[in-house]
Amino acid sequence: MKLLDGKFVSEKIKQEIAVEAADFLATSGRKPHLVAILVGNDGGSETYVASKMKNCEKVGFKSSLIRYDVNVTEEELLQKVKEINQDAGVDGLIVQLPLPKHIDPEKVTEAIDHRKDVDGFHPINLGRMMRNLPCFIPATPYGIMLMLQSYQIDTVGKHCVVVGRSNIVGSPMSILMARNANPGNCTVSLTHSRTTNLKEMCLQGDIIIAAIGKKNFITADMVKPGAIVIDVGMNRETSTTTKSGYKLYGDVDFDNVAPISSWITPVPGGVGLMTIVGLLKNTLASAKKEIY
Ligand code: GUN
Repeated sequence: MKLLDGKFVSEKIKQEIAVEAADFLATSGRKPHLVAILVGNDGGSETYVASKMKNCEKVGFKSSLIRYDVNVTEEELLQKVKEINQDAGVDGLIVQLPLPKHIDPEKVTEAIDHRKDVDGFHPINLGRMMRNLPCFIPATPYGIMLMLQSYQIDTVGKHCVVVGRSNIVGSPMSILMARNANPGNCTVSLTHSRTTNLKEMCLQGDIIIAAIGKKNFITADMVKPGAIVIDVGMNRETSTTTKSGYKLYGDVDFDNVAPISSWITPVPGGVGLMTIVGLLKNTLASAKKEIY
């Protein structure tokens, strides 16, 4: 078993981003600028957004956090999105999900100018991704592709079983792994909570990408010996033994799956760190007008 080390790879790529950000500052007189909107005080969202902002500063980007009370109206939020769309000094805009129930996430996602949609959630970016056109790729799938690329893992012709069909991870991941690109060129099965024979499906996977949001869901009896296992799980549980007050669990039963896998990502220290890298790369590409 070999570890796909998100800490090592993300630090290496962030150094490259920092060099490019410094070049951008020298030639344009400004830093790449990411704006994040956070509604309410969901514990997970707070942590993820704080990490995004901190990493922006680390690589020499400007970052701005706009906070709203959980009771903010949809109208007020949409108005702010429109205002930021018009701001030439902003390269990327993300609205952290999930949003409170009274706000339609589809409306918010579509309101973001696709040229600033560094989360890659806008239908224009997803549509362009389908067609292999320049676009912002959703940060987590993008980060996973960068990780596979960094370890020069050959995915051609392999059977990739994606577990979970979310708009944010599973669905875009399945498209990327099937694309005629490198990494890519896989035969993909997109499985989910309603898949029958999920265990048998997973056992056929040369690559398993677990993004179902359930602690230790992928057990050793579901994994073919020698498989590559990518764990997207970020399952938070309160804990009295950690400083932060919570502990993070993946979707994979790491202790029992690791010994039979060829490559595996740990949680924490795996995909989560790569997600940030995907977001930073999209923001830099936006500032440099590389996509639009
Ligand atoms: N919630 C969970 N993951 C993400 C993400 O990548 N972007 C946003 N905006 N919200 C999320």
